[in-house]
Amino acid sequence: KKISVVIVAAGSGSRFGDPLPKQYHQIGDKTLLRHCVKAFMHFCPPAHIQVVYNEDHQAWLDAAIGDLVGSGGLRPAVAGGLTRQQSVLNGLRALKDAAPDHVLIHDAARPGIDPDVIKRVLAALADCDGAIPGITVNDTIKQCDGHSMITRTIPRETLMRAQTPQGFHFKTILGAHEKFAGQEMTDDASLLEQLGIAIKCVAGSEGNDKITRRDDLSRIGEHFPNKQA
Ligand code: C5P
Repeated sequence: KKISVVIVAAGSGSRFGDPLPKQYHQIGDKTLLRHCVKAFMHFCPPAHIQVVYNEDHQAWLDAAIGDLVGSGGLRPAVAGGLTRQQSVLNGLRALKDAAPDHVLIHDAARPGIDPDVIKRVLAALADCDGAIPGITVNDTIKQCDGHSMITRTIPRETLMRAQTPQGFHFKTILGAHEKFAGQEMTDDASLLEQLGIAIKCVAGSEGNDKITRRDDLSRIGEHFPNKQA
């Protein structure tokens, strides 16, 4: 099967609280974005990698991965949009000419990609249209109202924390993104869920957690250096 990868890196990271967006911060000797690109090049390897970036970040983008463009399937980056969902749509549209069978969609804010997670997601695509990595929830989860008062306890046995890379049949996910353009879903599986398409949840990994706040850098960084070049 022909596989392509979309890496979304167009966010400005308001919760991170630093003028330098989180995808351009370093863990070890590489920026988060470069960790992601290199991981897919080594562990997948895909026919094409399409990075989606923010045009205000051009200089940071060039410094992070400019030297890799044209090698290992890495295409020149395309501009993203105001929401993650719009950025993914732009990345998928840019891959139309490559006509991949399967696509992996990944957040640049998750630098600790485990090759086994990629393998599990791709393997699951043999018998379903979509597969995502997930982590079981260990804490008891409360739903609260606007005044921080508990309204109920949600049974944690039914819950998974969704990670990326999320894998899909390319035509199915592109069709769903075109149909639901303008929504603000925070992952891609949500779009297929709205169409009633079955999606499998495979085991994710703790090291693949998303960097959201500044102290996540050192917490996630403890799982590094990982084995990629
Ligand atoms: O903000 P959050 O961490 O949830 O974003 C997840 C991923 O989506 C990040 O890699 C971010 O760069 C990307 N994103 C994007 N375009 C946006 C917003 C977020 O590519 N407009």
